[in-house]
Amino acid sequence: MKKTRDHITIEGKQRLQGEVYINGAKNAALAIIPASVLSNDVCVIENLPDIDDVTSYYKALIKIGAKCDFRDSHTLEVDCSKIDSYTAVCENIKKIRASYYLVGALLGRFGKAEVMMPGGCNLGTRPIDYHVKGFEALGAKVVIENGMIKASADELKGAHIYLDFASVGATVNIMLAAIFAKGVTTIENAAKEPHVVDCANFLNKLGARIKGAGTNVIKITGVKELGGGEYTLIPDQIEAGTYMIAAAATQGDVTVKNIIPVHMDSVSAKLAEMNCEIAEGGDCIRVKGPERLSAVNVKSMVYPGFPTDLQPQMTALLCYAHGTSIITETVFENRFQYINELRRLGCNITVEGRVAVIEGPRQLTGAEVTATDIRAGVALIVAALNANGRTVIGNVKYIDRGYESIVDKLKSLGADIARVRR
Ligand code: EPZ
Repeated sequence: MKKTRDHITIEGKQRLQGEVYINGAKNAALAIIPASVLSNDVCVIENLPDIDDVTSYYKALIKIGAKCDFRDSHTLEVDCSKIDSYTAVCENIKKIRASYYLVGALLGRFGKAEVMMPGGCNLGTRPIDYHVKGFEALGAKVVIENGMIKASADELKGAHIYLDFASVGATVNIMLAAIFAKGVTTIENAAKEPHVVDCANFLNKLGARIKGAGTNVIKITGVKELGGGEYTLIPDQIEAGTYMIAAAATQGDVTVKNIIPVHMDSVSAKLAEMNCEIAEGGDCIRVKGPERLSAVNVKSMVYPGFPTDLQPQMTALLCYAHGTSIITETVFENRFQYINELRRLGCNITVEGRVAVIEGPRQLTGAEVTATDIRAGVALIVAALNANGRTVIGNVKYIDRGYESIVDKLKSLGADIARVRR
C-alpha cells in the first residue's frame, strides 16, 4: 500500500547497467479508458501500466456505472454498456488532468456531459478553450460553472475545426465527441503524438471511422454505434526516454526493451549529440553514457519533436554536461518550477520565461528534495543517481502517478535506491 509519507532515497554514483522493460503508455491509457464509454459492449485493454492515474480513472468509470474488472494487473475489462448517467463527479476526477476526456466521451454518447473540472500537474494555467471550441463547432453548448464542465447538444454534426495549437487533449476530446456526429469532422493542426494515434486505432477497432491520425489532419466520419474489442496499448515513450536519460547521466549501459524505437527518435538524436552511444534494435534501444557528456541545446516541441514530458529529465542530465546548454520549453508556459528543487542538489541553472540556461558540468551533492509533478519527480531521480551522497525525494505520490515499479526497475539496473516510509 503506497503512503503519501513515502520517500525515495538514492545513494548516487552507481552506473546503471542491464535491461529494463517499458510498460504501456500512461497517456494512451488515459485516453483509451474513457474512450471505452462510447462502446456498447465489453472492451479489453491490455498492456495497461500499473500506475495510480490508471487506478484513478477506472474508479471514476465505476462511479458513473461502468463495470470494470482487472483480469491481471495490466489487463482491464471495461463494460460501459450499462452507463445511464452523463454526470461525472468524484474525487478521482480531480486527481488527473485527463478526466476531461469524459466530457467528449459522454457528450458523444448521450449528447450531454457534466464533468467536474480536471486536476493534474501544475504546469501553468492549462486552459481548455480549444476543447470547448471543438465541442461548440460540433453543435454543443458548453458552460463552465460551479467547478463543472457542462456540455449539451440536440444533435452533434460534423464540423471543420482548426486547432490554434496542436493540443493533445483537445485532439483526443474532439475525436471522442465526433465519433457518432452526423457527417464528417475534420481536425486541422491535430496533435500527432503516438498516444493520439493509439486512441484512434482503439476506436477504429471498435468500429469507428477515423482517418489521418498521426498526421496534422484527422477526419472522423460519424457512425451509429461502437462494438467491443481487445486492444493492446503502445509502450510508453516517456518512460523509455526517462531510463535512456538516466543511463546517460550515470555513464551507464542500459537497454530499454519492449519499445517502438521510432517513437524515441528525437531523444536518441539528442543523446547521440551529447556523445552517448545509441544502438537500435527491433523493439529496444541500448544507451551507453560517455565519460564526457557534451552540452547541447534542446527545444521541447509537439511530436515528433523533443517531448515536453522529457524536458525536466533532460535538464537534470545537462547539469552533468560540459559547457552551457539552453533548454526552451515551447509547449507549456510554466514548466520550470521544479528547477528550485534541482538547485538544492547544486545545479547552476538560470530561468528566463520559457528558457533555462544550464552551466555544467556540476558535481551535484545529495539533499532533501520534493517532487512537484510527475516528470519533475523523475528529473530529481536522474540528478540524484549521479550526485555525491544521499538524496531523499518526498512527494513520491507524483512519481507513482506515472511510473510503474520505478524503484525496483532502477534497483535491477544497479542503482542504490530504496522506498522508505517516514
Ligand atoms: C497532454 O496534456 C499530456 N497529458 C501531458 O503529459 C503532455 O505534457 C501534453 O499532452 C503535451 O504533450 C495527458 O495526455 C494525460 P496539451 P494536455 O493540450 O492534453 C495549451 C505527463 O506528465 N492548451 O497538448 O493537457 C496548454 O496550456 C503530462 O504525462 C490551451 O491553451 O496538453 C499547453 O500550453 C504532463 N488550451 C499546450 O496547449 C487548450 O484548450 C499543450 O497542451 C488546451 C491546451
